[in-house]
Amino acid sequence: MPQLGQSCVLGFAALCCERRLVERLWDCFCLGTAMAHAGYRTATSYELRPAGPSDTAAIGALAREVFGPGPDRDPRAAEHRIAHVLQGAHPSSAVALDAAGAVIGATITIQRGPLTVLSLAIVHEDWQSRGVGRALLGRFPAREPGRNRVIMSSPDPKAMRRYAALGLHLRPTVSACGILRPRAVEPVPEAIAISPREGAQLVDAIAQAEQARGVPYGRDVEMWHAQGDTLHVIDDRAAVVRGGGVLRIAVARDPEAGRLALRAALASVPPGETVHLRHLREGQDWAIGEMLRAGLALSPEGPLFSDEPLGPLHLPTGTVF
Ligand SMILES: CC(C)(COP(=O)(O)OP(=O)(O)OC[C@H]1O[C@@H](n2cnc3c(N)ncnc32)[C@H](O)[C@@H]1OP(=O)(O)O)[C@@H](O)C(=O)NCCC(=O)NCCS
Repeated sequence: MPQLGQSCVLGFAALCCERRLVERLWDCFCLGTAMAHAGYRTATSYELRPAGPSDTAAIGALAREVFGPGPDRDPRAAEHRIAHVLQGAHPSSAVALDAAGAVIGATITIQRGPLTVLSLAIVHEDWQSRGVGRALLGRFPAREPGRNRVIMSSPDPKAMRRYAALGLHLRPTVSACGILRPRAVEPVPEAIAISPREGAQLVDAIAQAEQARGVPYGRDVEMWHAQGDTLHVIDDRAAVVRGGGVLRIAVARDPEAGRLALRAALASVPPGETVHLRHLREGQDWAIGEMLRAGLALSPEGPLFSDEPLGPLHLPTGTVF
């Protein structure tokens, strides 16, 4: 006689259905509790798609909301930098969209020579700790021989957790910030101040030095030019890009030239303007000493993450490293 399944007996089927429902509810409760313990809140649906230049305004608006006001956060300049890095961005760059199609998260990754740089990673506050960042960064390129993946992290514990999970090495940093101590910074006679476009070849030659970035900036120099930054140069030995009180990058062939270029940049900061230099790390006493001498305060900052050690004569910028 053929075996009859439970569904053949009406009462059994109803009983089983009820039991399955109770089990499902119990499973959901357990999963919810486990996720809450892991720092997650219940997620609703979102989807990912590749990011492109047409996402500039939405990502810019999200960045303004997530990061809020602060040094170097002029909305137009920030949006211009986002547009710049979205041009030719690595295909792993992505946006997360909620059910209504609004951008609630984004990552932008760029490649510069052998460097793979995470230029931006943000998730809307209402969506943070729900696994959106994990999904976005799941697309970040894996480690590859001959390439160095680099990320300048914010101090957000969620960011550091995500980046460490990518297998990158953590390198602690501090930032230097404040108003210059009166008369602490003397002008540097041998320094010249030019536009980044004028000094593009010079800054690229210095950037390529082994102890510096190791890679030229190429078309990224245009980004600084477009936002009206100034390039401070010491011969063909050191260069600093400065916008107002923000020291964006520094590259040098030797520590003494690096110190002089930083001093020249500080001496040109408009009076009363807050100076800001981020991500100073171990092995960069040449720069740290110059900041302390100028009366600036050091504070803990988000770490730098990278596969390989980084050139000590290079102070990078988050956007393009
Ligand atoms: C950093 C950021 C992009 C991560 O995105 P997210 O969607 O919040 O991240 P996820 O939910 O995928 O992952 C967060 C991780 O941190 C953990 N976490 C949550 N809150 C935490 C806390 N207060 N302390 C430590 N860890 C925490 C979560 O458990 C999760 O780790 P797990 O997946 O291993 O369990 C997002 O939080 C963000 O935009 N932060 C503000 C902006 C910022 O600082 N961006 C980084 C710029 S470099």
